[in-house]
Amino acid sequence: MKLKSKGGREFIIREISTFDSEPLGQYFESLSDETLKRFGPHPLTKEFAVALCKRKHDSAIRFILSLVEKKYFVGYFILDFRIPKGLLDRYSEQGIDLSNGRNPMFAPCIADNYQNTGLASLAMPIIIKSAKDLGANSLVLMGGTQATNKRAVAFYKKFGFKHICEFKNEVLNYDMRLLLET
Ligand SMILES: CC(C)(COP(=O)(O)OP(=O)(O)OC[C@H]1O[C@@H](n2cnc3c(N)ncnc32)[C@H](O)[C@@H]1OP(=O)(O)O)[C@@H](O)C(=O)NCCC(=O)NCCS
Repeated sequence: MKLKSKGGREFIIREISTFDSEPLGQYFESLSDETLKRFGPHPLTKEFAVALCKRKHDSAIRFILSLVEKKYFVGYFILDFRIPKGLLDRYSEQGIDLSNGRNPMFAPCIADNYQNTGLASLAMPIIIKSAKDLGANSLVLMGGTQATNKRAVAFYKKFGFKHICEFKNEVLNYDMRLLLET
């Protein structure tokens, strides 16, 4: 699907395919340490891109965003329907049951040079619609977001994600959830 930014640039958002291992790997390896530090779901390496694109079965739907006129990728988004126990437990402690398979985890990552230019905001309605079409009731942040990631927190709040709870690993994190209207 084609998307047009406020500045008039055209982008394509689509699911990754088996043929994307090279550009996906290049995209992962282009990301700065600062971005890598913020993105927890999986390694952002060429090897992982190859393994992802080879997968026959994936609990996740993975979208990539690219410029229409260029081959390289500028964004990557995950919707994963298989929630790990730790996250289920944290929500359960807040009285929220995520176990019905309708509350996919969401994780976004935009290329460094394109961050804060409205790209994730441009893609978000497509991702929300895809989640709803798949029967999702809500989106929950995959592994939460780091409390110091002010841009991410602002972005999630802008789309209606609500703070659910906090947890600590090496740093303080927020679990956030977006209820989807049906
Ligand atoms: C977080 C991320 C996905 C957001 O995507 P993006 O395309 O950069 O976000 P957008 O430009 O669409 O929107 C960012 C919003 O945050 C706001 N913002 C940016 N920096 C901010 C700050 N320090 N404090 C408060 N708000 C801030 C912007 O003004 C904008 O809101 P607006 O549209 O109302 O003006 C992207 O920056 C990214 O991939 N970061 C690195 C990896 C990461 O953090 N992933 C998420 C892990 S939880």
